[in-house]
Amino acid sequence: MDFKPANNIQDLQYFGEFGGVNPSISDSSTYTFLSAKTMFDTFEGNAEGCYLYSRHSSPSNLYLGEALAAMEGTETATVTASGMGAITPVLLQLCGSGEHVVSSRTIYGGTYAFLKNFAPRLGIQTSFVDITKLDVVEAAITPKTKVLYCESVSNPLLEVADIKGLAQLAKKYNLKLVVDNTFSPLSISPAKLGADVVIHSLTKFINGSSDTVGGVVCGTQELIDQLRNVNDGAAMLLGSTMDSLRSASVLKNLRTLHIRMQQHSYNAKYLAEKFENDGLKTVYPGLQSHPSHALFKSMMNDKYGFGGMMTIDVGSLDKANALMELMQEQNLGYLAVSLGFYKTLFSAPGSSTSSEIPEEEQQEMGLSDGLIRFSIGLDADIERTYNMMRTCMEKLNIL
Ligand SMILES: Cc1ncc(COP(=O)(O)O)c(C=O)c1O
Repeated sequence: MDFKPANNIQDLQYFGEFGGVNPSISDSSTYTFLSAKTMFDTFEGNAEGCYLYSRHSSPSNLYLGEALAAMEGTETATVTASGMGAITPVLLQLCGSGEHVVSSRTIYGGTYAFLKNFAPRLGIQTSFVDITKLDVVEAAITPKTKVLYCESVSNPLLEVADIKGLAQLAKKYNLKLVVDNTFSPLSISPAKLGADVVIHSLTKFINGSSDTVGGVVCGTQELIDQLRNVNDGAAMLLGSTMDSLRSASVLKNLRTLHIRMQQHSYNAKYLAEKFENDGLKTVYPGLQSHPSHALFKSMMNDKYGFGGMMTIDVGSLDKANALMELMQEQNLGYLAVSLGFYKTLFSAPGSSTSSEIPEEEQQEMGLSDGLIRFSIGLDADIERTYNMMRTCMEKLNIL
């Protein structure tokens, strides 16, 4: 593939109101109109370049949205107050009562909980499937199905979705393929592989400094207009609007994403290879042993590697907890959920971010008690980090 997402971001030039090198931040929730007629047209969605009210859009939010649309190669995008604030309006816009979703079973726990526990209250049912098996996905599609939902690299098991294959299925059955690309920004460009909608939790790699939550929906102008419609748009009416001050700060961080992703990927690959050689059960899409290594390679853009996420299995929850506490004591990172930070973050997903998934389902999907999920940081000397982590593991008889 010849898609260059970082070039697309770099080529965006936004001047501030007074020639500032960063665009001016819009510090208003509402906007004046010089004529009443323009206000009416704006309500109808017909007044290009006019702002109505900041829950609908603001200059700062549009700047960030357009930068993310450029990154994903979609017509446009809309930013939201959180990743869940992007996911839930999209699902509710695309599905109504009596309709059906086919979703990967290995997805972020919050998305899983929404589809499993909340959406049925609105008459929306979901079948959870092994997304790596296209025949299983196809068999789950019914005449009521409207959406195929997956993560390009799944949380927390790092399964890789065959986006081209899923897009073909979506076309065949007239469904929308919605892909959460939070784990693999820049590396994978789902829309270029046929996805209809690409979602990110900006909270993670894209913002990169663990100081805010945020989200984005990238898609066609038609879908984004529907989401923002004042009469029946789920983003507009559910109100998960990003604040302009925040979108300005996320936009500045987006400018360094390519360098950060390179370092996250370099460091994660280094550690994954070392731990696998040491005999630990290690999952990282950049390892030859990963069942979807070749698939990831076939989908990835040049330069950004296989991402910053890896897992190791240390055998039991007690051992996982002891190791995480010791690593935190040794200043190797933080025992915390979330990902994409400059410091390494680690958590045991079975008892944290995926605890919404019942135990027997966790076992069935291979989410074991001793699994530790790492979001590898930007450590300048990863060999030193490895040696220190190894010492912790030796102390606890893990190695
Ligand atoms: C893959 C993935 N998607 C979505 C979300 C939800 O994003 P947010 O926490 O910004 O609402 C998360 C959060 O952990 C995630 O890991």
